[in-house]
Amino acid sequence: MNGLDRGFANYGDVAFSRFLRRSFLHASGRSPESLDRPVIGIATSPSDFNPCHRALPELVTSVERGILSAGGLPMAFPTISLGESFLTPTSMVFRNLMAMDVEEMVRAQPMDAVVLVGGCDKTVPAQLMGAFSAGRPAIQLVTGPMSTGRYHGERLGACTDCRRFWARYRAGEVDDVEIAEVERNLATTAGTCAVMGTASTMACIVEALGMALPGSATAPAVHADRLRVGEATGAAAVEIARAGRTPDQVVTPASVRNALRVLLAIGGSTNALVHLTAVAGRLGLRIDPDELNALSDTTPVLVELKPTGDHYMEDLHASGGLAAVLHELRDLLDLSAPTVTGKTLGDLLGEGPRWVDRSVVRPLSDPARPVGGLVWLRGSLAPQGAVIKRSAADPALFETTGRAVVFTSLEDLAARIDDPDLDVTPDDVLVLQNAGPRGAGMPEAGYLPIPGKLARAGVKDMVRISDARMSGTAYGTIVLHVTPEAAIGGPLALVRTGDRIRLSVSEARLDLLVDEAELARRREALPPPPPGPATGYGRLFHERVLGADQGCDLDFCVPPALS
Ligand code: FES
Repeated sequence: MNGLDRGFANYGDVAFSRFLRRSFLHASGRSPESLDRPVIGIATSPSDFNPCHRALPELVTSVERGILSAGGLPMAFPTISLGESFLTPTSMVFRNLMAMDVEEMVRAQPMDAVVLVGGCDKTVPAQLMGAFSAGRPAIQLVTGPMSTGRYHGERLGACTDCRRFWARYRAGEVDDVEIAEVERNLATTAGTCAVMGTASTMACIVEALGMALPGSATAPAVHADRLRVGEATGAAAVEIARAGRTPDQVVTPASVRNALRVLLAIGGSTNALVHLTAVAGRLGLRIDPDELNALSDTTPVLVELKPTGDHYMEDLHASGGLAAVLHELRDLLDLSAPTVTGKTLGDLLGEGPRWVDRSVVRPLSDPARPVGGLVWLRGSLAPQGAVIKRSAADPALFETTGRAVVFTSLEDLAARIDDPDLDVTPDDVLVLQNAGPRGAGMPEAGYLPIPGKLARAGVKDMVRISDARMSGTAYGTIVLHVTPEAAIGGPLALVRTGDRIRLSVSEARLDLLVDEAELARRREALPPPPPGPATGYGRLFHERVLGADQGCDLDFCVPPALS
């Protein structure tokens, strides 16, 4: 450990650099002795634009308590923060920017280990990506989920219920007064979305990866357990610093496989697959589509949280937390996988929780669904892949051949989806083009609304296909992340209204049923890709972002073996 003596500002005189650094730090009023302790950075991400992180100051204080009690010197520092619904065109564009911020600040500042404190969808993967590239000992602490609110006697939690009520509003079942009241009751505490959306999925994945303490994924943001986990994480960070335990010693192919098992068993978000691909990729670890599908076929869904079940994250916490899930899955997990604590996953599992609410965490012998939530599709429409969340989809639509109704952009979708004259039937396949990483930053627009006239007629689900993402809180028979994306000339760009498309979940296939000669003609006539932003980070993202199959990372951030 180097403590404050790591990586001096270069004045051409190292002794002077050290003297100057310590002089300035005395301005903080810390005791002179404390400056010789192991330095534990705390990467914080507070922002008024990120209400999910509202409780972060108190949580950081609990981390500092833990660090001090274990003999470390806590040094909190801010990075940018990404509030999911406050960023245009989409927070996805800025995940890699936050990762760069974290990486550079962890590397440039003197710290022996770092506690990463984040929660809202993109912040956790960004922090892990950055810390993994920095290579310094690190441990993740999530902010924890929101608690539910009440509306006319019904529990509400962001954001599956947001979508449910909005769909009812669009269908004319909910009026303006009611939707305004619902708006005020969906997100009523600090914390991340209350369901098994992307933030909750990432929290569970981080714990399964071994990068966070046991029990840390589910404690609600406003629960005392969250602060206890914060304190324990701070203390653990000092031990990790002393041991020099870097992320590459923790995250291995075995722990990534365990994380995929958990992703599948919790019915987790499709976004998490992109993020886990990017996070693992920073350590040179690849996710193999065939392995994902094999794991999916042998991992039942055990957790009954929205959007696939009826419960919320606070219920999972009260039902034993992720430990209850891991314990059920123990025969499917690699228990020898290391964790940030220095113990193996098997060591940490122990006997499992003494009581589990089986309406929330099903036993392996009687799962919520017999197979896992996600399927990686391939075929002529998605040569490099696409994903469907079968646990949130309608099985009646799993084997569908239908007529494409194409929207060429997000603007085209917005302009025509509710047109009463739109030529569309419930058996058609809605296709959205140019919403991938280069086309539009890959927003969560893959949850195409049911066309207004069909919604009013009672249609609840249709097959929908795009190169966009979907919120982890959403549901429907929705094919996402089609790669290569339309904006760089992928086959998705060649689809025209009236074409036939075949989806087969059982065969993991997605095919465009148009002959190759016709596709070649269309390919010739494609316009050149649209220019991206002319300057700044937007230009960097546009020019260097990889496809969804590579986690949408920037090509120069990925180790050469994977780029
Ligand atoms: Fe922050 Fe859902 S909006 S976690």
